[in-house]
Amino acid sequence: MIDISGSGQLPLLTQRLSDLRASPVRAMLEASQKPDVISFAGGLPAPETFAKATLPASAEAALQYGPSEGEPRLRALIAEELQAIGLDCDADQVLILSGSQQGIDLSAKLTVDAGTRIAVESPTYLAALQVFRFFGAAFESMPPDLSVNWTRQDHPAMAYIIPTFQNPTGRCWSADEREAFAHNCEASDVILFEDDPYRDLAYEACERRPVASWMKQGSWIYQGSFSKTLSPGLRLGFMVASRDLYPHLLLLKQAADLHSNRLSQYMVIDQLTAPDRAARRDFLVSTYRARRDAFADAMRRHLGNAVEWQVPPGGLFFWLTLPDHVDVDALLAAAIKRKVLFTPGRPFYADEALASPSIRLNFSHASQEAADAGLAILGDLLRA
Ligand SMILES: Cc1ncc(COP(=O)(O)O)c(C=O)c1O
Repeated sequence: MIDISGSGQLPLLTQRLSDLRASPVRAMLEASQKPDVISFAGGLPAPETFAKATLPASAEAALQYGPSEGEPRLRALIAEELQAIGLDCDADQVLILSGSQQGIDLSAKLTVDAGTRIAVESPTYLAALQVFRFFGAAFESMPPDLSVNWTRQDHPAMAYIIPTFQNPTGRCWSADEREAFAHNCEASDVILFEDDPYRDLAYEACERRPVASWMKQGSWIYQGSFSKTLSPGLRLGFMVASRDLYPHLLLLKQAADLHSNRLSQYMVIDQLTAPDRAARRDFLVSTYRARRDAFADAMRRHLGNAVEWQVPPGGLFFWLTLPDHVDVDALLAAAIKRKVLFTPGRPFYADEALASPSIRLNFSHASQEAADAGLAILGDLLRA
C-alpha cells in the first residue's frame, strides 16, 4: 500500500497530487482478498458469472499494435446495440476504453481546469469524484429531485450522472427525469456525461433508455463497461460521444495508452457474438436477483428497523442510512476486527457536509452463507 497521507513537501511532484485521495474501496480490496474475510466493500462481480476466457483463433492478429479507436468490429457491434436502445450514434463515434474508469479520466482531461464547475449527484461514484477532484473540479451537488437552475450564462461545464442503478444508491431515474435532465443540459450548454455500467443488471422492469438519447443537440458522452457483465479483469469499456467532442477524446486516448488491449477486445467480440449470449445474460441476472433477494431477507432479519434502505431494482449495491448517532468510522473499525468489510458512505459525497451516516453494501460477491454471517455481525455491532 502506498502511503500518500503524510507526504509533506514534494517539490518535484505536481500541485494536483495534493488533491488525490486514496480510494477507500481500493484500500480495502487488498484486505478483502483474504479467504476468511466477508467483504461487502467494492463492486466485485461473482466469479461464477464470468465469461469463459478463451482466445478466439483469429486472436493472433491482436498481438500487433492496433487502432486507438478500438477494433472496428467491436465498435460496430456496440453502435448497433446502442441504436437498439434508442441512442442515435454511428460506429465512428465509438471509442473503446481500457475500462470505463478511463472514460472518466478522459472526460475530466477534456473539461476540467482548476475551478471548473462539475455537477454531480449526491452521493455519486467515489472514484469519479477522485478523478474530477484531481484535475481541480469545483463540485456542484445536485438535489435528489435533480432540480437545477442553469442558464446559458451561468452553468457547470459538465454534469456527471449515473441514472441507471446508480452507484452507490441503486436508484433508477424515471423517463420524465431523464427527458427533463437532457433538456436542461441542452438548454444551458452543459455537457452531459452519462455513466452506465450497470444497465444490464436489471432485476425489475424500469426505464433504462439513456438520458443521452434525448439530447438532440448539444454535447454529450455516454459510456458503458464489460466489467459487470463479462469480467472486470478484461479492463474493457466504451464511450460514445457527440461529434464535437469525439476527436478530442480520441487524441486524449492516444496520449493515455495508444489503444486498449486487443486480446481483451477480441474476447469481447467473441462473447458479444456467441450463440449463448442471451442465456448467459439471463443466468447473470437471475443469479444476482436471487442474491439481492436473499441479502434483503438477511438484512430484515439482522439489521432491524433502525436502518433505512430500499431494495434496488438493479445493479450491485444496497445503500443504508443509519441512525444519526452512529459513528460510521468506529463501526467500520469494529467490523474489520470481526473480518467484515463495507464501504462508508461519506466518500461518495462531493460535499461531505451533506452526508448523513450511511454505508454501501455490495451483494454480488459474498456467498449467501457468508452474507448472512456478515450481516449478523453488522447487526450485532449496530445494536452495541
Ligand atoms: C459508476 C461506475 N463507473 C465506472 C466504473 C468503472 O468500471 P470499469 O473501469 O471496470 O469499467 C465503476 C466501477 O465500479 C462504476 O461503478
